[in-house]
Amino acid sequence: MLQTAIEAARRAGEVIVERYPAGRTLTVKGHRDIVTEADTAAEAVILDLVRARFPDHAILSEEAGGGGIGDGYTWVVDPLDGTTNYAHRFPIFSVSIGVLQGGEPLVGVVHDPLRGHTFVAERGAGARLDGAPLRVSQVDRLERAVVGLDWGHSDAEREWTIEAVRAVAPCCATVRALGSAALALSYVAAGWLDAYFNFMMKPWDVAAGTLLVSEAGGRCTTLEGEPYRVDLPGCLGTNGRIHGELLEVLNVKREM
Ligand code: IPD
Ligand code: CA
Ligand code: CA
Repeated sequence: MLQTAIEAARRAGEVIVERYPAGRTLTVKGHRDIVTEADTAAEAVILDLVRARFPDHAILSEEAGGGGIGDGYTWVVDPLDGTTNYAHRFPIFSVSIGVLQGGEPLVGVVHDPLRGHTFVAERGAGARLDGAPLRVSQVDRLERAVVGLDWGHSDAEREWTIEAVRAVAPCCATVRALGSAALALSYVAAGWLDAYFNFMMKPWDVAAGTLLVSEAGGRCTTLEGEPYRVDLPGCLGTNGRIHGELLEVLNVKREM
């Protein structure tokens, strides 16, 4: 499964990069939510490979949909995470493929096709970047932390995020919004960010990234500090050391 996820993510990455310089046909899916032909072309490449190798496994994929998360193996696919960046030629986006077993992440792959970074994790076997073991950062005080976040699509999510930034920005080194949740969680796993939060995640945004964080020694919870599951919207992934401090600061959302 891991090898297939890596192969599928890299093949999808080639499709995405091939189309990057060309004209991009946009379709509006929802409020501040677009899809390009690269999303669907990359998705087809991934799903064809997964169906050919694992015909009995369930699939939940952003554009194609599919069944929900089953009791057996479920492939959770985001063929292009960061479509708004892609469509604006802002060069940060990724392919995210996670495999769940009974709803729990088992395998996670996040591939950045422009930089050639392939982040992989297997439950109980650690996380790696192009073969080298990944470890979260050692930063143990929020005031020294670089905190990632992203803006949701709806006006309400934007308001929550503004309130969260108002609370977090004065207490940390700085904040960054990359525009690809899967890649931001991979950066937490690599120690390049110390934390990442988002109020409105979908399973395909986080199935691989949260496993990367936990296998690299970090921690993922909801924004209320409950154990994280990929079907829950609010996600906080950190190096573990600043998790409690950040949860206290983010408490602001619960009071709204
Ligand atoms: C988006 C990205 C972004 C997050 C959005 C997601 P998409 O995914 O992960 O970082 O803030 O909520 O929808 O639509 O580009 O696959
Ligand atoms: Ca996504
Ligand atoms: Ca997507």
